[in-house]
Amino acid sequence: MLKDKILLPLDSSSAYTPWLWIGTWSMGGEGFGSHDERESLRVLRTAVDHNIRHFDTAGFYAHGKSESLLQKILRSDRRDFFISSKGGIVWSGREVRHRASPEDLKRQLYESLDRLKTDYLDLYQLHWPDPEVPISESIAALKSFQRQGLIRYWGVGNLTALQLKTTLRTERNIPHQAHFNPVHQDHDVLLAGQDLCINCIVSPLEQGLLGGGKSSSGMSGLGKRDLRNRNPCFSNPEVLKWNCRLNELVNKHSLSKVSVVLMWICSRPNVHAVIPGPREIGQLNELLEFKTEVERSGLASAGEDVSILSDEKTMNKIPDELWQHLNKGPENSQSVTGNGSTTSFSPTL
Ligand SMILES: NC(=O)c1ccc[n+]([C@@H]2O[C@H](COP(=O)([O-])OP(=O)(O)OC[C@H]3O[C@@H](n4cnc5c(N)ncnc54)[C@H](OP(=O)(O)O)[C@@H]3O)[C@@H](O)[C@H]2O)c1
Repeated sequence: MLKDKILLPLDSSSAYTPWLWIGTWSMGGEGFGSHDERESLRVLRTAVDHNIRHFDTAGFYAHGKSESLLQKILRSDRRDFFISSKGGIVWSGREVRHRASPEDLKRQLYESLDRLKTDYLDLYQLHWPDPEVPISESIAALKSFQRQGLIRYWGVGNLTALQLKTTLRTERNIPHQAHFNPVHQDHDVLLAGQDLCINCIVSPLEQGLLGGGKSSSGMSGLGKRDLRNRNPCFSNPEVLKWNCRLNELVNKHSLSKVSVVLMWICSRPNVHAVIPGPREIGQLNELLEFKTEVERSGLASAGEDVSILSDEKTMNKIPDELWQHLNKGPENSQSVTGNGSTTSFSPTL
């Protein structure tokens, strides 16, 4: 669609960057409730069987276990896959620390290459800007990895609109992982990335709150060691109230909550790819059904449009009261989820 002929695996015959990638954070087995590695591998292999080749991971996820898991599905046809990983934050006990100096990024990149048993990554991103290191220095390190052939593309994550405009002003088509969904409507960041970035939406289901499982009831549905206890959305009364109403509306209209939320996201301007993180095969199947529905329904944007789905066609497909509810988001959502300077799961929490 929009940004053609870029961000493809080396051996891809496709002409377009796909809009649906799969994220592996929750598959690593830490902090997202019960975990079964065989189930995670089934999810990944089924995704590959359905022609999904773009997978996102990070050294930070489950202390490297998400990368090690992903390695297990990389077959001899490595060049058929597009592996995106990230560096710049690390665990220190139960705390999260920024580590995005050139030396730190280099060490983290080599660790990722080791775990993934590969000699290159398709995409390596600054996971978060490090307050102690100018973003330009972190980016210079990523560019040097690219020159050395260690990575094919470089990208960024979690930059504010201002940071995007200042640090990427001379760049084009830089992948940016942005947190965006109906309870975290940071339109400014997407707009700032309009001409500079490929906006890749992460945590589209707000880590499960906008799905249909146990975690969708908020903190009461999470175990004590669940990482999502740190996400303020899971305990915020306004968000939970809004989410209950969303449940009522999708039930009333017999619609899939996941499809409705993803459809809304994909129809927002300047959304170029979406990266959900399924933990179970049923969840992956929901995503595959959504993908098929999108491809068959004729909802895709035409030509030069700036979103994945046509706003007008999508709006006509979703009942008005539901559409309005999604557009509005929770009351006081800026104070709930941040003002664009941070996301709900900021590493500084
Ligand atoms: N750059 C960054 O800073 C950053 C930050 C966050 C994420 N990411 C990337 O984005 C990916 C996705 O984000 P995320 O895992 O935080 O959140 P997400 O995709 O919004 O939510 C994933 C959770 O939603 C629930 N779920 C219910 N139905 C689902 C379905 N059909 N498909 C997928 N999930 C469903 C599952 O939890 P339950 O089983 O508990 O219901 C699952 O663990 C990550 O894997 C990672 O690659 C990047």
